[in-house]
Parts: sequence; C-alpha cells; structure tokens
Amino acid sequence: MLIRQTASISRRLLTTTSTSFSLDNQLSQNKSFSEIPSISALKVVVRNIPGGKYYNKSMTQLHELLYDEYGSILRFPGLFGRPPVVFAYDAKDFEKVYRNEGVWPERLNLDSLVYYRKTKRSDIYDKFAGLFSSQGEEWHSMRTITNPILMQPKTMKLYCTQVDEIAKEFVGIMRKLRDEKCEMPADFSNYINSWSLESVVAVALERRLNILSGSSNDEKAQELIKNIRIFFEKSFEFDGLPSVWRYYETKSFKDFLKVYDTITNIVLYFIEEAVARIESNPSLSSNEDGILRKLLKIDKKAAVVMASDMLLAGVDTTATAAINTLYCLAKNPDKQEILRKELINILQTKETQLTAENMKNLPYLRGVIKETLRIMPVISGTARKVSNDVSISGYKVPAGTHVIMVPIFETTNEKQYPQPEKFMPERWLRENNDPQCPHAKNANPFTFLPFGFGSRMCIGRRLAELEIEVLIANVIRNFKLEWHHPDMKIKSTFVNLPISDLKFKAIDL
Ligand code: HEM
Repeated sequence: MLIRQTASISRRLLTTTSTSFSLDNQLSQNKSFSEIPSISALKVVVRNIPGGKYYNKSMTQLHELLYDEYGSILRFPGLFGRPPVVFAYDAKDFEKVYRNEGVWPERLNLDSLVYYRKTKRSDIYDKFAGLFSSQGEEWHSMRTITNPILMQPKTMKLYCTQVDEIAKEFVGIMRKLRDEKCEMPADFSNYINSWSLESVVAVALERRLNILSGSSNDEKAQELIKNIRIFFEKSFEFDGLPSVWRYYETKSFKDFLKVYDTITNIVLYFIEEAVARIESNPSLSSNEDGILRKLLKIDKKAAVVMASDMLLAGVDTTATAAINTLYCLAKNPDKQEILRKELINILQTKETQLTAENMKNLPYLRGVIKETLRIMPVISGTARKVSNDVSISGYKVPAGTHVIMVPIFETTNEKQYPQPEKFMPERWLRENNDPQCPHAKNANPFTFLPFGFGSRMCIGRRLAELEIEVLIANVIRNFKLEWHHPDMKIKSTFVNLPISDLKFKAIDL
C-alpha cells in the first residue's frame, strides 16, 4: 500500500514537470534578483533583541511575520558566516527549485558538524564524510552506497519484529508510568525520545540499550542519551542562530564539539562490539543481512558514519512525529475510534505481533500519520542551492542561490486542503468516496513533502514510518488516549519540538 502510494505521488510529481520548464523559459521577463523584497542585516539583529518583533518567536511565528510583511518571496541576509538565502512560500516555486536542484543536490549543512568531522576527526571521516556533512561528489558516493541499503522496503521488513517488540515494551512502561488519574508524567517526552533512540540503535547498531524504563545501568547508553539530548538542544544555537564560533572557538562551542566526539566514540565502540559479536558467531550472518552488516561488508568506517548520521537525524524527528500523532488522536476521539477499529482487525489481541505481512493493510493509520505531518510539521522547511537560474514568484533567482522552502502557508491553505484546520485522515485515503471529504490528491503535491524530495530526500523515511506506525498501532490498540490540558506548545529549532508537559490520559481498553 505504502509503495503504491509513494509511486502514485511520484507519478503526480512527474506529470507536473513540463509546466515548470515552460515557466522558466520566461526568465528574461522576470524582475531582477535585487528587486526581491529584502530585509537588512541590521533590522534582523535589532528585531531579534529582547523586546524586538522577532524575539523569542517560534519558526512558524517568525515566518508568519515575514510573510505578512514581505509576501511570497524574501531575500534574507547572510549573518555571522551563514550565506544569504531566499525564503520561498509558494508550492509552485518549490517545484521549480526542486526541478533545478542539479544532479548532486546541495542543502545548507550543519556547519558545526562539518567543522568537527573535517578538522577534528579526519581519522574517521576521511573516506566517508556522511550525508549530513558533505556535498557534491563526496555526498553522491556515500548516498550511492547507502540508498540501496536504507531505502529498500525489503530491508525494513527485517526490523518489523524488533521494532514491534520495543513498541510493546513501551506500552508496558506507559502502563506503569501513569498516575492515579491515568495521566502520563510531565516528562513523558523523555520516554518517547528514549523509545526513538532505542529503536534507531536497534536498527543501526544491532544492539539494545534497554533505556525505555529510564533505569538502565549501562554507562555507554546513558552517555549516548545525554549527549544526543545536548545535541538536540544546542545544535540550533550554533548552526541556526548567529554565532561567533566560525571566527573563534568559544568555550561553549568547544564543549559542543565534545558532544560530537562523545557520540562518535560511543558509536565506534558499539560498532567494534558488533564486529566482535559477528566474528565470534558467524552463523548469525545470513542471506538477509540488515543495515549494519551490509555497511560493515563495505567498510567499517561507512558503518560508523551512517550510524552517527542516523542518530543525529533520526531520533528527535521520529519522536516528535510520534508525539504529534498521539496528540492529534487524543484531541480527535472520533478519528481515534476509526483507527482502533482498523487496528483490531489486524491485532486481534493486544499481544498480536505486527509483521510486514499484516501491516500491509493499514490505510487509515497511514492517513493519520500523514494528516499529523500536514497539521503539525516536524520540520519547518527544506533547502536547496539552485543549480540554474530560476524564476521564483516573478523574480530571476541566479544559479548558486540557497532557497529555503517553507510550506506552512500551503499546508494550511483552504484552496489546497479545504477545511485545513480539521484533522481529517480520510483526505489521504485512496478509497475516499465521501463527497463531503476533501481529497489530498487535489492539492499541489509540492505542498506536502515532509521528508523532502528527489535524490536528497530523507534516507530514513522508511524506518521513521515503520517506527511510528508500529508505536501508534500498539498504543491505540491498548489505550484510549485523552488530552485534558491547554493546547500543546512548540519550540522551533531545526525541528518543531513539543515543549508542553505531555500529560496524556491513557485509559486501559
Ligand atoms: C518523522 C521523521 C523524519 C522526518 C520528518 C525527516 C525529515 C527529513 C527531511 C525533510 C530531510 C531533508 C530532505 C531534503 O532535503 O529533501 C531529511 C534528511 C535526512 N534524514 Fe530524515 N526525517 C525523519 C526521520 C529520519 C530517520 C529515522 C533517519 C535515520 C534513520 C533520518 C535520516 C536522515 C538523513 C541522514 C538525512 C540527510 C539525507 C541526505 O542529505 O542525503 N531521518 N529528513
């Protein structure tokens, strides 16, 4: 089903190509780059100081302010070593940007990670730079190795049982964590983050950390959780906001580099451990090698680099999507009930295992996750450096410009998604015969690309979808979820992180 849906989206995306090319032929009639509405560096700085218009605003609020003042395109200045960028808010323009991404698409990197990998740990990152910290040919050669390993649905099927086992353990932990009102503790998000980390490590490092209960004695596991949390909290400070580390290594930046170092060293340790395990028991290797074994067969360094990227990119994103999905279901009990009916058909008992086979027929669950990603995006936007001159909102944007595409005004646009404020998983169903229910297939497909697009799209998409589907299925099969508190608050860094106390009420079924 999933593959069919992905294929149908790809077909729709492909059929729109010709329009973009004909539009781009009109480049000469466009207004010049310098005429694009712009904001000065001084204004950005002044508006960001306490009391200023942008101070302490979430990314979404910030874009709302920019959009209201400047419209569908804006030139944003380069600050403290970051290049200038163009913000684009219209899906027709996203299509043009993606169509002009070139053969080796480039996106702004996490510069601190590039700096760490290139200058501090060339012993590991000399041969494979990692997907997050490379561009051009270097990126292409890593992606060529990793694509067939991570993007293959066949490989993901290998992890279904393990991911299900972890989700079922998590359900058991939820049961114990509830207070007398059946509410989860305020810091429930830490437990969901641990679930996400436990699941990614099980796949990337073939190892259980056993951190779900929050009482693991494994020092390395504890260090890993601690440092990944610091990475989530701090990376935006050093890579998203103006910061002087590009000119001078401040004490706080040196501390941040130690976080990268600790994560790298722990991953290295776990990989060595896995190699020893596999060598001492070769019969465990089978025709059905998973991600780690396939990478180890290529090169141990490739395995270290990819596992590090999976930890840095895959933990908070997946945890956030899972939290948001639980939240949308708790706030929409009627939709939760429809989902539960679908799940009971597959999971006849609460203990029934999810398998690649029985997961094939869960369209409503997939609709729930898509609708959550539409209403509560995990990532505010994606970026590309355009490889040709391109027409955006009537302006000529020259090759080499970094364009950041922010879809929030499209995913909440009545014309693209009628009744946009309503949580309607039915929009995404292939068999949606209800004339009252708007269908997402009528929207421009470039409005909704939560995992990006093209050859540089998220390589962990299939894993993320598997983990979220399995977790949500198990939680909703076991509990009726309710939410009796003010609306959840979000803090935007690179990821739109939920920051409210997650006191879901979980009533046994
Ligand atoms: C709901 C969860 C997730 C979301 C919403 C998400 C979203 C994204 C997006 C939007 C991009 C940029 C794509 C582009 O520029 O076209 C990306 C890149 C990436 N993601 Fe994810 N992601 C998620 C989970 C994961 C997981 C679980 C992993 C690893 C196991 C992962 C690994 C990566 C990597 C390595 C890249 C960089 C790819 C490259 O540059 O070639 N992501 N992700």
